[in-house]
Amino acid sequence: MKSLLVKPVSCLEGRIALSGDKSIAHRYLIISAISQGRTRIKNFPANRDCLRTLAAFRKLGVKIAKSKLSKGSLEIIVSGKGLYGLSKPKSSLLVGDSGTTLRLVLGVLSGQDFAVKLTAGKSLNKRPMLRVTSPLRMMGAQILCRRKPVTTYYPPKTKHLAPSFRFEEYSPIIIKGGRLVPIRYLMPVASAQVKSAILLAGLYASGSTVVIEKIKTRDHTERLLKVFKAAIKVLGNKVVIEGKHKLISPGVVTVPGDVSSASFFVVAATIIPNASLKINHVSLNPSRIGFLKVLARMGADITIKRDVGFDKQEPMGDIWIKSSRLKATTVTRKEIPGLIDELPILMVAACLAEGKTLLKGVGELRFKETDRIISMTENLKKMGAFIRVVKSKESDDIVIQGVKELKGAKVRSLGDHRTAMSLAVCGLSAKGKTLIDDFSCVSKSFPKFLVILKDLIK
Ligand code: S3P
Repeated sequence: MKSLLVKPVSCLEGRIALSGDKSIAHRYLIISAISQGRTRIKNFPANRDCLRTLAAFRKLGVKIAKSKLSKGSLEIIVSGKGLYGLSKPKSSLLVGDSGTTLRLVLGVLSGQDFAVKLTAGKSLNKRPMLRVTSPLRMMGAQILCRRKPVTTYYPPKTKHLAPSFRFEEYSPIIIKGGRLVPIRYLMPVASAQVKSAILLAGLYASGSTVVIEKIKTRDHTERLLKVFKAAIKVLGNKVVIEGKHKLISPGVVTVPGDVSSASFFVVAATIIPNASLKINHVSLNPSRIGFLKVLARMGADITIKRDVGFDKQEPMGDIWIKSSRLKATTVTRKEIPGLIDELPILMVAACLAEGKTLLKGVGELRFKETDRIISMTENLKKMGAFIRVVKSKESDDIVIQGVKELKGAKVRSLGDHRTAMSLAVCGLSAKGKTLIDDFSCVSKSFPKFLVILKDLIK
């Protein structure tokens, strides 16, 4: 529970490269584990979440060799077991607070002919699971979860209506997989984790599983399954996967730098007055760089250069950022999945932009490591921001009126890595000191955050 004291800085300068992207690393490991052959995964990030996935597959009988840690990254070699080679673990799988581990592993376990218990940490225990258990049950997996009634929210004008009750499901989860049938599934929530769980289960179904998204979410699972020769097709917002096809390892893969980790430095270099920063070899997957587009629209000085011929399936490249004055913008509901994890740091940018920024349909932020609408609005208000949350039956909108300057304050991470790093960046440009409690939570995704940041401060 280490706290962090942040003082304002006037200059940020340098060139950095980041450990592998968390979303891509989880998927490379999972897909390697159920493919034929050995896969060497370079630039695998040694963050808490990805190490949970690694430990889970070791427990499922997969041999995974690890190199020595270098600059926050590992090289791992996964000896794939094929689709049906996993073994029943002796005890429950501990997934910690890694939502991606839990939801994606459920997809794989749906196709295994044995029962497994998955146990999560304190924060993941509070996150909804019905969104993933429901389609996997439709495919034939048997799943038992902790259940709790939840109340449906009604906006103020409809207060006279009685609230409606339904159940939500939470971990711990016991899953017994087996014979699966394919489904055609129209996603009720925009979630890449849910889509990925269904596609991974689809590898075991007899026939074509179809997932349709109203709004497209990150597409790493689709891209990486192609790298491993799965029979998968993406047709606009529809993904079709044929079950019972072997996955074949390509041998060596490299995880591009984590673009979500990069977002904290991109915003820092934009709002700190004398900044010039280059981020090398970072993921530029189009479904992840929504925040770069929004910042560019706000007037940020960002230049992108794509690497050619590196990994055709997962684009990567370099980003240059220089300080600039920002103008307010409107972020539409459709843009949200492409920048969902970057919303906390975009809120910091919006606080310092000229004019009123509107972030539409951000309700999914309530289901992250903490309720990020609360964690970010409460803390930023303490630092002098003008923020309003407009609730509606469907979602939430956030309205931010930019100010010239924020002021340092005592703030709380609420144990959420992205809230903590966003507040640290905010503190660097605020007037006076900022004290952030419990900063150690950043190791969930980015243990080297402070080391890299300190190196850039001149
Ligand atoms: C992720 C998907 C997103 C994101 C999370 C990682 C993934 O979650 O917030 O950090 O790797 O698929 P949802 O699928 O719940 O939106």
